[in-house]
Order: sequence, then C-alpha cells, then structure tokens
Amino acid sequence: MYEIEQHKVSEAARRDTHLDADGYERLYRQSIEQPDTFWAEQATRFVDWMQPWSKIHESNMDKGEAAWFIDGKLNVSANCIDRHLAKRADQTAIIWEGDDPSEDRHISYRELHQQVCRLANVLKARGVKKGDRVCLYMPMIPEAAFAMLACTRIGAVHSVVFGGFSPDALRDRIQNAECRVVITADEGVRGGKSIPLKQNVDKALADCPDVHTVVTVKRTGADIPWHEHRDVWCHEACAAVSDVCEPEPMDSEDPLFILYTSGSTGKPKGVLHTTGGYLLSTALTHHYVFDYHEGEVYWCTADVGWVTGHSYIVYGPLCNGATTLMFEGVPTYPNASRCWDIVDKHKVNIFYTAPTAIRALMALGDEPVKSTSRASLRLLGSVGEPINPEAWEWYYHVVGDSRCPVVDTWWQTETGSILIAPLPGATDLKPGSATRPFFGVEPALYDNDGNELHGVADGNLVIKRSWPSQIRTVYGDNQRFIDTYFSTYKGVYFTGDGARRDEDGYYWITGRVDDVLNISGHRIGTAEVESALVLHDAVAEAAVVGCPHDIKGQAIYAYVMPMHNATPSDELLADLKVYVSEQVGAFAKPDFIQWAPGLPKTRSGKIMRRILRKIACDELDTLGDTSTLSDPTVVDELIEHRLNRG
Ligand code: PRX
Repeated sequence: MYEIEQHKVSEAARRDTHLDADGYERLYRQSIEQPDTFWAEQATRFVDWMQPWSKIHESNMDKGEAAWFIDGKLNVSANCIDRHLAKRADQTAIIWEGDDPSEDRHISYRELHQQVCRLANVLKARGVKKGDRVCLYMPMIPEAAFAMLACTRIGAVHSVVFGGFSPDALRDRIQNAECRVVITADEGVRGGKSIPLKQNVDKALADCPDVHTVVTVKRTGADIPWHEHRDVWCHEACAAVSDVCEPEPMDSEDPLFILYTSGSTGKPKGVLHTTGGYLLSTALTHHYVFDYHEGEVYWCTADVGWVTGHSYIVYGPLCNGATTLMFEGVPTYPNASRCWDIVDKHKVNIFYTAPTAIRALMALGDEPVKSTSRASLRLLGSVGEPINPEAWEWYYHVVGDSRCPVVDTWWQTETGSILIAPLPGATDLKPGSATRPFFGVEPALYDNDGNELHGVADGNLVIKRSWPSQIRTVYGDNQRFIDTYFSTYKGVYFTGDGARRDEDGYYWITGRVDDVLNISGHRIGTAEVESALVLHDAVAEAAVVGCPHDIKGQAIYAYVMPMHNATPSDELLADLKVYVSEQVGAFAKPDFIQWAPGLPKTRSGKIMRRILRKIACDELDTLGDTSTLSDPTVVDELIEHRLNRG
C-alpha cells in the first residue's frame, strides 16, 4: 500500500500567496452564505462592464437553466486586451515557443490588440456577424488565440476543433454548428512532424457547401491546394484592413463559444458557454488557484483545442493581464528535457500540465529534469485525469524540488473553469486529492438511488448550486443537455464522475462512472469508437471499454465481431485501427482489438459492458453474475482469447 505523506504548504510558498487558510474559509463561507455580495465584488474586481447587471443570478437546477450578471454588457476581447493597454501595452501577453527550440515569439498586449482587430475586421469583411459560428482548426500558434479573440470582439461564436481530429470529425462539427467560415493554417508542426491541417479542411469541406470562406495562416509555407473563390491568406487579408475595430457590446448571457466533447452516447455534444459568467470564473480561478502575481510567466501545456486551452491559455490569463506561454511542440522533442529547458529559457513561474505527461516524463528518469535549473518555478498544476500519488510525488520532489505546491485541479468542459482544487498557501495538500471546492461551488456525493451521502463517503459527484461558468446548453439539443446533466438526479448537476470524500472534507476523484474514457487526458466516448468500428465493412458489432495503462491512464480495448464473410487477420486488425484514426482522430485509435464470436448481452439485447471491462482489465475473479446473459458461453470464449496487455 502506498503511504501518503501529508504535504504541509512550505513557509516559503505561504508567504506571499493571495490567501491563507483563514482567507479561504472566509471567502468560501461568504460565497455560499451571501453569494450576491461575493459575486458582485468579484465581478467588479476582475471584469470591466460596459453596462452594469441588474441582477446577479437566476437559476433553475431542475431544468439546468442559469443566467449570471443579468442585463450586464461586456466584451471579452476588450477585457483581455484593451483595458490592459494603459498599463501594460509593452508587456508580453503571449510567449510562443515553437516546436523547433530555435523559434520563439513575444507578442505584447499592443501587438495583440492590433492583430485581433485586424482579424476581426477580416471576419467582418467576409460577412461574419454577431451570433454567427466560426470554426477554428488550428495548430498551437498565437494566431489561434488571435482568432478566438477576434470572434469575441465582434460577437461571433467560435467552435475550436482540436487539430488532432480527422477530416470526418471536423466535418461533423462544422455541420452541427452550421459554420460558414473556417480559420486554419497550412500545416501544424509537432515533434518535428507536420500535420496537414488545410488539406484536412479541404476534405471536410467537400460535404460542407455552406462554408464560403477559409482563412489560412501561413505557418510552414508548404504547398497546399487552393480554392480561389473560398480561400484567403490570413496575412494578406489582415494587411488589407484597418487595425481598429470597436468591441461589440455583448449581453452577459450571449453565447461565447461552442466546444465539442464526448459523452456516453451518440455524437459529440457542443457544449455552449456564455460571456460574463465564463470570463469571470476563468479569471477568478486563474488568479486564486494559480496564485498568479503581476509580472509572472505562466505556462499551461494544454492544446487550445480543448477546454483547458480555452480557459487557461487564453481567457483566464489574458483577462488578468498575465504573460501566457503557448508551446507548439511535445514534451519529449527534441529530448526529454524540453519542458524544463523552456522553463529556464522563459523563466516560467507557474507550470500546468496533465498527469499523462508527468508519467511519460517520469518513465524517462530524473536525469533530464535534474540537468536543468527550474529555479524560476513556484507552482505546479495538474489537470485532466486523476493523478496517481507516485506521479504526484515525482512532480513535487523532482520537478518542483520539493519547493512548489502542486495544485490538482478538477473540472470539465461543461464546468468551464476549475471547481475543486487547493489554493496555494491556503490548503494543505494530499497527493492524489483535488482537495476542496472553489468559491461558490457546492459539491455533494449521491448514491445510485439519488440519496445524498454525508461525511466520509464514496459516491457520484454532483454540484448542488449554479456557478457562473456553467454549461448553458448543448448546441442545438437542449433536451439532450437536460437528459445528460440534470435528469440523473433531481435538482443538481451530475458530473459523470465518481468521488470519495475523506475525514477532512477533501475530494478524491475516482474517474468516470459512465461510458466515457480518459485516454492521455483526452475524453472519448466508447460509443464514438464503436460507431467508427461498425462503419467498417468487415465489422458486424463492436464494444469498447477502457483498461488501465501506465502512461495514458486508460487504454482503449475493443471487442469486434467480424461479419460472416470477413476473415479475421492481423492485416484486418491493423486496418481497423487506421480506420478509427480516420473516422475520429489518431488519439482514439484502439490499443487492443480482440476478435469476438459474440458479445455478452442481456436477454433484452443490452451489451453487458461491466463483464467486458472485467475481462479487459483481467479482473476475472470479480466477474459477477453472468446468469442473466442470453448466452453465458460467450463469456468463456472471450476469457479464453483475451489479449495479453503486458
Ligand atoms: O473525469 C474527469 C477528468 O476529466 C473529465 C473532464 O474532461 P474534459 O471535459 O475533457 O476536461 C478536461 C480538463 C478540465 C472529468 O469528468 N478530470 C479532469 N480533471 C481531473 C479529472 N479527474 C481527476 N482529477 C482531476 N484533477
């Protein structure tokens, strides 16, 4: 059994933090007992409003309805750029570190303003209006942030699609959000390899006749196909327009962006976030959870295609006038010291990454870390999946030299911002625990029958009251939104996660309780991989489960029933893996595929995933009751032919 050591926050870290333990208790109590006073104070301090709100908040947790800072007007790009110009026009807003260590850029707030205004004017010139959706399919270059902010400047709603998604997945998202404009780059670059983004867009657009404009950033200068009537070079279009663009006054509840995420059933859901509440929550959490201080360099390693990139590379940090670092590459290129070389090169103070990256680097030993200084580091963060205590300890002792607090932050695409996390200087840390709720957040644990569990308990994690950056709907499908999040338990938001609460009231997230997998911090629905597999001519049926993986957290294990006329072979297996990559994206490629003569089903035809999961995880002694299956012999067959995952 792993011995968990309690890490008291070191005196050095405690000295200058925004809050101490009493400060956290006082503010948390105020946020729960006098929420209107609390939120009015924070919204005034962190956000500039063009018109004040008439009411702080209204919600109905039975229907998932929430509105924050009602009637308030603001503009996100003005908050992230314009209001900083008087004081910090020459301060670096974005440090960009290229995939190639010899390439970097510093973008000041002044330059950010010009770039965003120009791109906003390009969008306007191409007919984009307030409320229109614009799809972004971008590599990790500053233009990704310019494009997001340009949308917010004119009130357009961005839908960023992660650059690792396949053309088919991109097409589905463009169609679902009814985008008419796409912003992309000729190519992306990661780990010395190029990614054909524009070519992928062209493939996707074969089925998107409504898209009339593709704005392309020249990143590598590679030869790419060009459609005169539709394609526009970003640098040429930007040079032809003014660098002044007045920010559009937006209602606090106007949509800000759509971001697709995976659920347990069907197609990905377009999570919709709105303007005022989202911006405030990301700025507030960035300030307190990362204990951001003026002048510090902050680096979040996420991709802008995921929510962590939205909230903690772009919106939270820029709203706070921070210097945010954006890295194009991967942690192991050109070598395993890359992250720490970047920390030393740019004097990074705060570093925020995912457990999968920590585990991958840990597997390469201490030397690549120890050979660097990391003296600038003050705080470390973790997000995306449960962090195992071994990885936590390594992060704390080796990366942070036992000097930097580790903040394990729990949240989701739907929550918009961090909901459970320690505050440095205020919360004693326990490796593996996301610790305590952020201000205004009231978590609870429910059993499967919907009874609230009190004290020390293990259950389904729900949130009892509305918070400002709460998901407002699933784009185009409000019923699905209610069914997914507000119907499992009456009057509360259901997270889909399980958690344990200990004797100190600390939360320990145990992972998803639904059919959603977490592969290297990427969220993938089993249904998505299954749908991709059954589209293949040789596949009759497929069932996908997760199994533990040392580095990725979870791996994808698929059971595939071949068509009667198909011959299972190694070539077909390889084919199926490529096929899933093409349908969804490389990150969704199954790690293991087992041929299945049949799948275990109940008499009513429902696949018993619990059993498939046990077989994939080699937990045969806890297989449970198989007597309700329509054909229990299928299970023996699957066990006999289970794959060796070692
Ligand atoms: O299962 C939880 C896990 O990631 C899920 C949310 O995934 P996504 O919407 O892609 O957002 C990821 C980045 C916020 C959650 O339902 N998760 C996220 N953070 C943690 C976590 N699990 C344990 N500990 C965390 N700190």
